[in-house]
Amino acid sequence: MKRWSVSDSERIYNMPNWGSDLFSINKKGHVCVHPTPTSKYAIDLRALVDDLVKRKIKPPILIRFMDILQGRIAAINRAFNNAIAENDYPAGYQTFYPIKVNQQRQVVEAIANFGKKHTIGLEVGSKPELVAAISFAAGNKLPILCNGYKDNEFIEMVLYATRVGFDITIVVEKLFELEKIIALSQSTGIVPKLGIRVKLSSKGTGKWATSGGEDAKFGLKISELLAAVEILRTNALLQTVKLLHFHIGSQITKIDKIKNALIEGSRIYAEMRKMGVDLEYMDIGGGLGVDYDGSKSSYFSSVNYTVEEYANDVIYQVKNICEEAGVPCPNIISESGRATVAHYSVLITNILNTDTQSTQPDFEKILNETEKLSPTVRKLVDIYQSLDRHSLREDFHDTLQLIQEATSLFNLGYLNLNDRALAEWLCNKIFFKINGIVERLKPVPDELQSFQLSLRQTYFANFSLFQSVPDSWAIDQLFPIVPLQRLNQKPDVMASIADITCDSDGEITSFVGENGRSKFLPIHQIDRDEDYYIGFFLIGAYQEILGDMHNLFGDTNAVHVSFNRKTNYKIDTVINGDATWESLKYVQYKGPEILKQVRDALEKNVALRKVSFEETSHFLEMLDRALVSYTYLGE
Ligand SMILES: Cc1ncc(COP(=O)(O)O)c(C=O)c1O
Repeated sequence: MKRWSVSDSERIYNMPNWGSDLFSINKKGHVCVHPTPTSKYAIDLRALVDDLVKRKIKPPILIRFMDILQGRIAAINRAFNNAIAENDYPAGYQTFYPIKVNQQRQVVEAIANFGKKHTIGLEVGSKPELVAAISFAAGNKLPILCNGYKDNEFIEMVLYATRVGFDITIVVEKLFELEKIIALSQSTGIVPKLGIRVKLSSKGTGKWATSGGEDAKFGLKISELLAAVEILRTNALLQTVKLLHFHIGSQITKIDKIKNALIEGSRIYAEMRKMGVDLEYMDIGGGLGVDYDGSKSSYFSSVNYTVEEYANDVIYQVKNICEEAGVPCPNIISESGRATVAHYSVLITNILNTDTQSTQPDFEKILNETEKLSPTVRKLVDIYQSLDRHSLREDFHDTLQLIQEATSLFNLGYLNLNDRALAEWLCNKIFFKINGIVERLKPVPDELQSFQLSLRQTYFANFSLFQSVPDSWAIDQLFPIVPLQRLNQKPDVMASIADITCDSDGEITSFVGENGRSKFLPIHQIDRDEDYYIGFFLIGAYQEILGDMHNLFGDTNAVHVSFNRKTNYKIDTVINGDATWESLKYVQYKGPEILKQVRDALEKNVALRKVSFEETSHFLEMLDRALVSYTYLGE
């Protein structure tokens, strides 16, 4: 048999297809991270995690690679600039990073700093996001776009920010918002910079398709758009409208949906120009997708196009329609969030144990002592011993029938607990043996494909799905998950990954596999004392901010790492995850009060001589330590 190689591991996790050449496996069988897709230079992730653990930074750890973030910004801008050059497009391109995708200060700061040379801007959708964006725009002269619903306070803040020199565009989402803007502009005497969001009839695809189309929550219908133009004209503000915006949803999986939206959006732009609206920008919103499963398909965790194809289609379609209509081409803005930040962060955590590590009774010897067994169990032993590729299907059916029979006999009192356990154990052994044969059969019979599920084991990992990959629970989003080590050995266990929350939904049962979606993760048999880590990849977009506090597991430790040619890597900053008292604080508990309450209660017991004061002080010390410790599991 051919020896297992690291390229076999890359293949079964489909890494070359989702990894955008940023992740690979080295000769040691460890996952590596590259700063740019073309770079041979790499950080060994497993070695990095070992170093972090030696520094007493405990898993789960979110590792943020700022070089990758910069690389993504550069790649999107390069794709548009190339498309502009190839198509002789007479205007420019700008990304406005929608900060809702990941508002972490250090992330936005990195985007703001690095993005300066690409004239990046920030898109906000709420007052807190506006305040955050203003704080970055102040030093970096970044333009800001305001989408989402706005009240008077929001609009007034934007107007005064404009007065003191910020470059902020208010995007009108609703007609009633326009009335407020006009009233406040008149009362303050400040002229706003305006954009208008329009509802296209074109829709996106996948989970976010309802963000587009006529029933979408945001934007003006065409009839409202015309009304807005008239209202603005009457109030002498039409010349302040510089931008037309549309957004048909996140993670658009099919390029033809994007083309349809561009055609419709460009036509509206052209018509508005002809009506005398002095538009300079067309903001095509977000939607540039990420190929999470690497299938390059229109499945909702994938996309059937590349960034280059997206940029080319945008530029080509807009130019085509503007030329046909005889209007100047607009500067293009995209609010690409997911495609900018998804790749830069990886969550690493340790496997705590598996549901097979518990000591099993020594059943092996019964294989030779069949005369003591019940007839049902004896038949299972026979199947196990005689099974081969010719009897595969029949033996599979018989095993299913016998295990059902064992349960019925047990319920009727004809089988004891020991025999039932034996039947269960033998069934598992038979399935493993069948699997060994099935793996070599090409093609695998349909019926036998699904039986592999019964072999799936549960591996428990030290993380909260609800905190770290909430979309995996909420919308079945697939994220690549890969063990960080031993990938030069065949991972021969098929597992699901359960988290440490006490919620049965806290289990991942869908994975990125060789042929698309797989119902189990190939993983190694783990020795009892082995430190074994897995990584969750492409989780930089939305996950960090949507994560919740189920079971009060708080923020994980986070480490910012940069590539350094001399020392391989450099730790730029470490952000401690939530301690127990911090998680409790979110739900209105106060650490010192807890300690006081417990101490007072225990003192009463000491007075009654129910416990000694040494015992209570020891317990209070433990409680104190628990309050400052990490919310996740330790040793
Ligand atoms: C108005 C707007 N712009 C931009 C985005 C970001 O989209 P994406 O992350 O798909 O690029 C969204 C998210 O849905 C949005 O609602």
